[in-house]
Amino acid sequence: MSSHPFDDITADQLRAAGSMKWSAYPDTIGAWVAEMDFGTSPEVTTALHDAVDRALFGYLPQSLVTQMSESYARFAAERYSWGVDPARVRPVTDVLTALELVITHYSRPGSPIILPTPAYMPFLTVPGLLGREIIQVPMAVTRPAGSSDGPRYTYDLDAIDAAFRAGGHLLVLCNPHNPIGRVLLPAEMQAIAEVVDRHGGRVFSDEIHAPLVYEGHRHVPYASLSETAASHTITATSASKAWNLPGMKCAQLVLSNDADAKVWTSIGRPAEMQTATLGLVASSAAYAESGAWLDDTLGYLRGNYRVLTDLLAAELPQVEVAPLEGTYLAWLDFRALDLGGLPPAAFLRTRAGVTLTDGALCGMAGEGFARLNLATPRPILTEALTRIAASLA
Ligand SMILES: Cc1ncc(COP(=O)(O)O)c(C=O)c1O
Repeated sequence: MSSHPFDDITADQLRAAGSMKWSAYPDTIGAWVAEMDFGTSPEVTTALHDAVDRALFGYLPQSLVTQMSESYARFAAERYSWGVDPARVRPVTDVLTALELVITHYSRPGSPIILPTPAYMPFLTVPGLLGREIIQVPMAVTRPAGSSDGPRYTYDLDAIDAAFRAGGHLLVLCNPHNPIGRVLLPAEMQAIAEVVDRHGGRVFSDEIHAPLVYEGHRHVPYASLSETAASHTITATSASKAWNLPGMKCAQLVLSNDADAKVWTSIGRPAEMQTATLGLVASSAAYAESGAWLDDTLGYLRGNYRVLTDLLAAELPQVEVAPLEGTYLAWLDFRALDLGGLPPAAFLRTRAGVTLTDGALCGMAGEGFARLNLATPRPILTEALTRIAASLA
């Protein structure tokens, strides 16, 4: 693999920069929270510098909202062949706020939330804060016969159907999926849409990782599947993962039917006004101008995934990785190893000095697993993996 400027970023520089990923567990290599160690694109940096020079620090101007919505709509048309009306692309601070709003205003009052697991960790806590129960629906795992590709996770349609019958109303989808790294096929989503439709259910489709999809896979927005899917879905996405901007506090809520848009007209404005002005500047530049940086970064991440799979094959064949189709988060199964009763992440933090995310935080289906963030300079990844292998030897 040829060298890349990202290779030259050092752990000392990252610690000095002070990100959460590198400061929360300061004596370890940070490979947990979903931040990338590559900064952001030059186009985003230039747009932000320009906004700072103009002291664009006031409340959200409508012109910036329009610019962001149009930039996203063009990006969605080009990358996903999804034609969205820019007026239906609304700014919110972040995807978790979007989830709270959708639970509160678009799901049946008091109904439990249907959550396929393993799931992004806060999905297991946010519904409870709103007084909602969660029905955890473990995903189905198969190993196609004769394939050495590793485990294949799919949504368990019968179990989702049962969750609706048990009173669930809002299904939380995540695609591309954190933590399992899958990118759903249209046929899989179609089957999910049929179950949802049969029960008059709703879908919150978290597509925050949508730009981060590898060669051979394609992101198809769930709401773009059919009229039916559009009629029961609210989509949330953001430039924050692909361009590394989570602190800029700007995400996109995409409304795909008239009824939801009408509700938003009555409840959405306070949420929109909390979005950061600079976040809109950064998101617009990301979607409109930063495709080349994204593609280059994707190539680098793909190379990092190969480093991981090569090392596992050579030194840790007992640790299984779910094939990575999108995102930069690798889902590792440590259940075949004896870790003295410790969860893998706790074991690796103390014995290897590498901080991963504990799989159990992703729901019961994640016990014995850990999530590894691959978005780091390759020499740091290699060091982390070497330490992990040594600690498990
Ligand atoms: C799948 C998924 N959804 C939501 C979030 C949180 O997004 P936000 O910071 O916009 O709330 C993350 C962050 O890692 C994520 O991976």
